[in-house]
Amino acid sequence: MYLQVKNVSKSYNNIDVLRNISIDLKTNQIISIIGSSGIGKTTLFNIISGIEYPDSGNVFLDGEDITGLTGKVGYMFQKDLLLYNKSILDNVILPLRIKGYSKSEAKKIAIPYFKQFGLNGCENKYPKEVSGGMVQRTALLRTYLFSKSILLLDEPFSNLDSISKLSMYEWYLDVSRKNIISSIIITHDIEEAIFLSDVIYIISGRPGQIMKRIDLPLTSKTEQFMLTNDLVEIKREILSIIKNDNICMGLN
Ligand SMILES: Nc1ncnc2c1ncn2[C@@H]1O[C@H](COP(=O)(O)OP(=O)(O)O)[C@@H](O)[C@H]1O
Ligand SMILES: [Mg+2]
Repeated sequence: MYLQVKNVSKSYNNIDVLRNISIDLKTNQIISIIGSSGIGKTTLFNIISGIEYPDSGNVFLDGEDITGLTGKVGYMFQKDLLLYNKSILDNVILPLRIKGYSKSEAKKIAIPYFKQFGLNGCENKYPKEVSGGMVQRTALLRTYLFSKSILLLDEPFSNLDSISKLSMYEWYLDVSRKNIISSIIITHDIEEAIFLSDVIYIISGRPGQIMKRIDLPLTSKTEQFMLTNDLVEIKREILSIIKNDNICMGLN
């Protein structure tokens, strides 16, 4: 699967939010998008997922124009909340139910993934009874079952502490490899982007534009890389680009 975002621009109420954004996502790649709050990252995901239409530019999937079409990619919203009155299993099968599968069919499809997603034995538990990491993995499995090939994840790991984060990254890399998932991940966490991704795109400026694309070495997906000067150099470069965006910007 090959996702291309080509020259996408978007404004709201005559205010330009995004200008001329182009992104390429190849099979099994992980791309991170880094940018300050309010720069237009979620807007970009809304456009890629088809729930918003760009003013200009297009989104292609394997060469087919899917601009404005929903249901083509999986999308995990920022602050993705589970339904707290439903069990983990019922939360996971929600997208399959929406697609028209009966409850028993949906369960049959979902259950085999529980082990891989670290949710074995949690099927009948409620979100409040499991850890933050499990809530996150439940939301990820739910997104994965909606669209098994391309996932858009808006700050998927931001609620976790730093120790849980590292094991989640390793787990996510493994699950992505095994299931041939391609993902675009929005994050504020520069080290997370370096550890998880093949490519980082930095969005900056007003309107938000891609200021830099960083292709990471294969070695960046290791704990050792986190302690090298190469990592510090990449961090410095990213910070120098985004630091001016923090002025006069609302938090969200
Ligand atoms: N539906 C909308 N109507 C008007 N303005 C919007 C809408 N969605 C987003 N915006 C504005 O677009 C800008 C980018 O928002 P957003 O994409 O949520 O940023 P980010 O996810 O990078 O924090 C913000 O200034 C926000 O207020
Ligand atoms: Mg956002």
